[in-house]
Amino acid sequence: MHDTCKTEAAVPVNPAFKEQANIQHEHLYTLAAHDPQAYWNLQAQKLSWFTPYHAVMDGTFAHARWFAGGTLNLAYNCLDRHMPYAADRIALYCADELGGMRTVTYSQLLEEVQKLANGLKSLGVSKGDRVAIYMPMISEAVVAMLACARIGAIHTVVFAGFSAQALADRIQDASCSVVITADGSLRKGKMLAIKNTVDCALERCPEVKHTVVVQHSSLACSMDLERDIWYHDLLADVDAVCAPEPMQSEDAAFILYTSGTTGKPKGIIHAVGGYAVGAASSMELVFDVKADDIYWCTADVGWITGHTYVVYGPLLLGMSQLIYEGALSHPHQAITWQLIDQYKVSILYTAPTAVRMFSQWGDALPHNYDLSSLRLLGSVGEPLNPQAWHWYYKHIGRERCPIVDTWWQTETGSIMISSLPSIHAMKPGCVGKPLPGITVELVDDLRMSVQQGTGYLTITTPWPSMMRGIWADEARFRATYFPNDRYDRYVSGDAAHVDETHDIMIVGRVDDVLNVSGHRIGTAEVESAIVEYIAVAEAAVVGKPDAIKGQALVAFVLLKDGYAATEELAVGIKQQVVASIGALARPDEIIFCADLPKTRSGKIMRRLLKDIVQGNTLSDVTTLANQDALALVAQQWQHAQQELR
Ligand code: WT7
Repeated sequence: MHDTCKTEAAVPVNPAFKEQANIQHEHLYTLAAHDPQAYWNLQAQKLSWFTPYHAVMDGTFAHARWFAGGTLNLAYNCLDRHMPYAADRIALYCADELGGMRTVTYSQLLEEVQKLANGLKSLGVSKGDRVAIYMPMISEAVVAMLACARIGAIHTVVFAGFSAQALADRIQDASCSVVITADGSLRKGKMLAIKNTVDCALERCPEVKHTVVVQHSSLACSMDLERDIWYHDLLADVDAVCAPEPMQSEDAAFILYTSGTTGKPKGIIHAVGGYAVGAASSMELVFDVKADDIYWCTADVGWITGHTYVVYGPLLLGMSQLIYEGALSHPHQAITWQLIDQYKVSILYTAPTAVRMFSQWGDALPHNYDLSSLRLLGSVGEPLNPQAWHWYYKHIGRERCPIVDTWWQTETGSIMISSLPSIHAMKPGCVGKPLPGITVELVDDLRMSVQQGTGYLTITTPWPSMMRGIWADEARFRATYFPNDRYDRYVSGDAAHVDETHDIMIVGRVDDVLNVSGHRIGTAEVESAIVEYIAVAEAAVVGKPDAIKGQALVAFVLLKDGYAATEELAVGIKQQVVASIGALARPDEIIFCADLPKTRSGKIMRRLLKDIVQGNTLSDVTTLANQDALALVAQQWQHAQQELR
């Protein structure tokens, strides 16, 4: 594999942080290396089990079973077990763009979860049923997830920025019988009528028997009297006590859809016991959690980060945290710093795209606020490039707070690689080392181990929070993650670089998956949305480096005969993508071409389009059938770039 990576010099962690660190982790690495099962047993014992497991791990790698025989409940572990000592502790500080603020204590959260759990039961939901959640970042979203967990229903949260069509696809794939939503969602100063989106999606989903709607705005909201019920009405006349369902450790906890190389998004399945152990142990280790922390993870519950590090991880540990409904740019550019100051946030976990956006707004803004409550900063979702790292470290952490750059995926369930600030130095641009119990290996094209240099990032032993499969698609699960016939390693789809001190730097995806502002978008998904547009014959989507978003989407489009390339058409195509997937997948540029470069067998050569867009010299063209097409596309691209300037 081509290797141009070089890691930066290490930055030592502030000695005061190390002195005050809660957990001394070194012995955990030793234990995990010598006896991984003993290590995971130690972590699992921190949870409450109704009945003990008889084995820590058994089965094969691709179908490992964790804590088999044990029963537990996620909601019980997040709430009930904290009651004796933390009933009045604030679980959630809820803030929004309009300056609203509310608090929810652990006992209030438990009460509401039990009521909604009973409400869902009264609508006919039982263990194993699928419930879709399409909600803004409000406390009821957390309640909805935990209420499902309490009765053993499998939630599938769909980010509320996805379109009606994308929502319908997911509801159908998982055969959900109920949807929990709200009448509105606040984003960039606008209240979006998301119940309308649900109504639109449900025209195609007759299997959905009921929706539960949180009244959150003053928007007019049409209710289908037979199908729809207000959340407050549902909770008004149910019992306030609902016993937690004892779940088998290997029972499915949730499904979360994510993009892949081909076809429709994959429904990633996570299992109750292993997921709980992965979420709680990684939360505690990486963030060095303390009793008085005020934690803020800026992710939405629609993504895996929102599942593991907003809902389950922090609540499993009984933490207090801030959730924010809205964009980090609203109502003003300093809202993030204002909230940290106001709530005395001690741990901030956010995405590189946000850090780059903040830095673009200048160095002065964060200095107008008191950020002295911060003690640890985190990053996730895409590479935190050294420039952004240094800005984050200097202007937000004031060279006092360590940064944890955490690598993981929807599929891994919890953080796999991160430096631990109490023992490691940090390397800007690097994610550090695998957590205890996680074994990572880079391999080259010939599957040989890469000790130093660049290779495919693989994981070589099972871990508790690994995905248990793709919903209703076992063949795709095997082919994607365990492509070699020995099934002896999990293949992540990322390339990485490892240096002389074993620090890992993530290079990026090796498949046709793009990372736009930390959102995973399959090029195939966008292409199929574009070709749905009447005028389009063919489309190829590639990523272009972008200073803020990491990558931007460029679509090369071939029109059907009789259609002319106009600005209106480009707008129409973009709208088509927004309608099929959502605004997060809107192409940044549409390049109309007379032909696309293809192989002799007729496959579009995206690799060459990528070279053009990224300004690289063209890679191997021996299989290219239409040389002229390539030259023309390159010209077209140059032309478009000049117009942009
Ligand atoms: C992909 C997974 C898991 C949380 C959010 C994304 C990229 C994730 C990092 C990081 C560089 C990263 C990878 C990975 N990624 N964290 N710290 N540095 N890249 O979850 O949507 O499943 O995406 O995000 O490419 O494969 P996801």
